[in-house]
Amino acid sequence: MNILVAGGAGYIGSHTAAALRRAGHRVVILDNLQTGHAPAAAAVGGAFVEGDIGDGALVRELLSRHQIDVVVHFAANSLVGESMARPEKYWSNNLGNGLRLLEAMREAGVDKIVFSSTAAVYGEPERVPIEEDHPKAPTNTYGMTKLAVEHLLESFDRAYNFRHISLRYFNAAGADPSGENGEDHDPETHLIPIVLQAALARRDRVSIFGNDYPTPDGTCIRDYIHVVDLAAAHVLAVEALAEGRPSAVYNLGNGNGFSVREVIRTAEKVVGRAIPVEETGRREGDPAVLVASSERIRHELGWKPEFAGLETIVATSWRWHKSHPEGFREGES
Ligand code: UFG
Repeated sequence: MNILVAGGAGYIGSHTAAALRRAGHRVVILDNLQTGHAPAAAAVGGAFVEGDIGDGALVRELLSRHQIDVVVHFAANSLVGESMARPEKYWSNNLGNGLRLLEAMREAGVDKIVFSSTAAVYGEPERVPIEEDHPKAPTNTYGMTKLAVEHLLESFDRAYNFRHISLRYFNAAGADPSGENGEDHDPETHLIPIVLQAALARRDRVSIFGNDYPTPDGTCIRDYIHVVDLAAAHVLAVEALAEGRPSAVYNLGNGNGFSVREVIRTAEKVVGRAIPVEETGRREGDPAVLVASSERIRHELGWKPEFAGLETIVATSWRWHKSHPEGFREGES
């Protein structure tokens, strides 16, 4: 099939684009490089177009010229803190440009899309593990915009028979086992890369955000899922849509929760040295525990994580950070 990967120069997008190519699909990456990396897109191979999903004429032209069958949509802003400080940026890019992308698809006659959603749509969970029908009550603007796009997709499905699969990721982590692709955000806010940067002395220490949560060791518990397992789920979703399966929403997590302290301990084991930490106050908006039930996608699409262990997740990430301490800025060397 011919697949347009919008946001395919980003962390999850580039791993997915590579997985789609390995599965035998033709990939066209569209990315405005606002947060994505040209070397990540180049390493995927296939076509790369620098441009914006909000540019209807460009998207229409790409969809027709490459005879695109399915769009996989990652092109969004995803920093929770920034989404609270600059909500207009998130509504405009995530929802506004998301709508423009759907309109361009409709005009070009492309009606299948896999959408990058998030566990942030649930907000503070009432029960864990979280199933897809758990109430949606996002506590931040980022989660609100992602939930809004999920609703938009439902409306397009009803009105125009748009088939969509929304994948709600829990904590994406890890890196391609080759060590050649991995996480590179500026600023970095995610726990595992921050811990590994501290291990490399690229930052002084890791701040543990809150030690008084109602969890066994007082720190937050999250469900870390390997980026290559996320990528594999996108390939299954693309193929399910192409086979004519109905629209769906799936959680993606391992179903195992690990505390911040457990992550740091695991990282110390992987890197073989102590990592300096400090305990600070809670970060606003962090739920105590987020753990996914991914039974639905396991059952309906046969998805099964290959890199489920936390140590494997951290080890692949370490390989990337060790060989690319400056991320893609050194990627060409
Ligand atoms: N944490 C620290 N210190 C740090 C960074 C993080 O203690 O320097 C803690 C956080 O408080 C949290 C855990 O480590 O408890 C994981 O934090 P991340 O920032 O890595 O991930 P989040 O759980 O905040 O975010 C993830 C996704 C978001 C999504 C959110 C849903 O990355 O896209 O889950 O709540 F919105």
